[in-house]
Amino acid sequence: MAQKPKVIVTRKLPDAVETRMMELFDAQLNLDDQPFSQDELGIAFETADVMVPTVSDNVDAEVIGHAGPNLKLIANFGVGVNHIDLDAASDKGLIVTNTPDVLTEDTADLTMALILMGPRRMSEGERMLRGGGWPGWAPTQHLGHRINGKRLGIIGMGRIGTALARRARGFGLAVHYHNRHRVGDELEAELEATYWENLDQMIGHMDILSVHCPLTPETHHLLSAERLARLPPHCFIVNASRGGIIDEGALADALNQGAIAGAGLDVFENEPAIHPALLELENVVLLPHLGSATLEGRIDMGEKVIVNVKAFIDGHKPPDRVLSSLI
Ligand code: DGY
Repeated sequence: MAQKPKVIVTRKLPDAVETRMMELFDAQLNLDDQPFSQDELGIAFETADVMVPTVSDNVDAEVIGHAGPNLKLIANFGVGVNHIDLDAASDKGLIVTNTPDVLTEDTADLTMALILMGPRRMSEGERMLRGGGWPGWAPTQHLGHRINGKRLGIIGMGRIGTALARRARGFGLAVHYHNRHRVGDELEAELEATYWENLDQMIGHMDILSVHCPLTPETHHLLSAERLARLPPHCFIVNASRGGIIDEGALADALNQGAIAGAGLDVFENEPAIHPALLELENVVLLPHLGSATLEGRIDMGEKVIVNVKAFIDGHKPPDRVLSSLI
């Protein structure tokens, strides 16, 4: 490509990333950070050489249908690609890349925080204090539950699930996991982890359950009303992966009825909308999709996007290919 490629970025990125993108590419940035409408996305797809969308965009088959002749690469800013219709992208011969590894530790930190916040009732305590309702220390006030010695069930022992398990060991939690494949002996031994081939069997025995699989058609509502009913009533659920893996309405019902003890949620089925019942519940910690939200992490994610785009335009295979139909 003799000319600089036209790279359209759908959201504001950290300054250092945008500066480098402008040096390397004919970059069209979104400085006021207004999310693109579906029409605007379609127009961008018609004219770009490379699209850089992110989780807040709905890159559905219709948008991909607008792809112009020059578009060859969708370099997603983020690791999850459930917002991109991969089948439609594959049919169009588009390469899709993501940004793995660089947000693993930050997301695991945030998940560990949710695991602590729920059982120890930290959000409730802060709300009481800020509301002027703290009468001072008392022996039976605001009692939560001990973390040490409890069983943590991890659904999806990939990069983030493993990083969480390492942290959880430090807090004295016993690690249990369900995954498509059992992890290697060495890792299992390091984590002293117990593998459950059957998810339904595992969840009935856990004190805390944390979701770490990607959202795909197979994992949509993996935690259905039926599965949620299998959880012990003292169980806390944590989700910093994707909202659609849990049936949010069924979760709100279970929490309302006291069928489970609480939840810590960083992701939601229809972001930024939150199921109204969840907003009313004291025993739910709600965070605005903060998993990878560190400046360092977001700069590293941008760097990954740049490396993928640069490799592609220089005629190499982008390293983080999710779909590689062309090469
Ligand atoms: C991801 O990368 O998938 C995060 O959820 C958003 O950045």
